[in-house]
Amino acid sequence: MPVPQHIFDPPFNILRASHAVLDVVDLAASRAFYENTIGLHVEDADSDTVYLRGSEEHQHHSLVLRKSDTAACRRLGFRVGNEDDLDRAASFFAANGIVYGFVERPFQGRTLHFTDPFGFQIELYAQMEKRPHLLRRYDLYKGCHPQRLDHFNVFAAELQDTVDFYARLGFRLTEYAEEDGEGGRIAAAWMHRKGNVHDFAITNGAGPRLHHFAYWVPSPMNILHLCDVMASSGYLKNMERGPGRHGISNAFFLYVRDPDGHRLELYSSDYQTMDEDHEPLRWSLKDPRRQTLWGAPAPRSWFEQGSAFAGQDVRPPLFTADVTIAD
Ligand SMILES: [Fe+2]
Repeated sequence: MPVPQHIFDPPFNILRASHAVLDVVDLAASRAFYENTIGLHVEDADSDTVYLRGSEEHQHHSLVLRKSDTAACRRLGFRVGNEDDLDRAASFFAANGIVYGFVERPFQGRTLHFTDPFGFQIELYAQMEKRPHLLRRYDLYKGCHPQRLDHFNVFAAELQDTVDFYARLGFRLTEYAEEDGEGGRIAAAWMHRKGNVHDFAITNGAGPRLHHFAYWVPSPMNILHLCDVMASSGYLKNMERGPGRHGISNAFFLYVRDPDGHRLELYSSDYQTMDEDHEPLRWSLKDPRRQTLWGAPAPRSWFEQGSAFAGQDVRPPLFTADVTIAD
């Protein structure tokens, strides 16, 4: 299947993945998990919403938890370069028949919501209230010392079309997994705006759904420490996969499930990709080092479970990829 070309003059300038907005059923349980076990900093909270951020982030929030009757992914947030980019984005969406609208959101400047042609609910903003970062406030460090939100990974039912859409918005492919042989189809793609392996990964599967969101941590030791913390704080069964080293991205990882089943990755040690001649790396779907460099395949839940987007129907994928599953 075709690998998208890099586009260096997109219709508007997305800087990076910024924040996730999640619907959670038990707000107190979710807050306790993210604040005390993972170690995010609560910046603001009321009876319906909790705003959290990592130690490195100047922005007010990179995770928003909203109390709801049903767990879901409400929206994925990306930051754009400036206010003009929001207007350029609105013009692009209007010209291409994409549902969009400007909304008011606490602690954010003008915010533009859009639902892409595949049902992913995205919000764009240029300005968010700033806070002093907490990087040198070691006295406040908890959990695995999460520094910043790094990326999103989604299940897409229409994999190639979704990859092509985001390539058109300037997301550049860094690595991809593909079936072998003539006519082999891309089954997963890692795409970036900010200059590391990805801001947005797109995985073949029932979608639209959020597969996971990821926070950067300073080192693999922080991830190993989190394993010990989760094992001794009642979250043993919430550790789904890892710790390990991905072949794809080369990152050290752990995947955990929050009290509602939303999947969070703790992520460390990938690499830079901002050079304009940086070439995508292809992986065979059958290479055992792809999922985990050391060879361990992912569990079945990894391929089947994810968070639906609130209000969006989930469709089966256009094809079933022949992936290696642990059981
Ligand atoms: Fe990830």
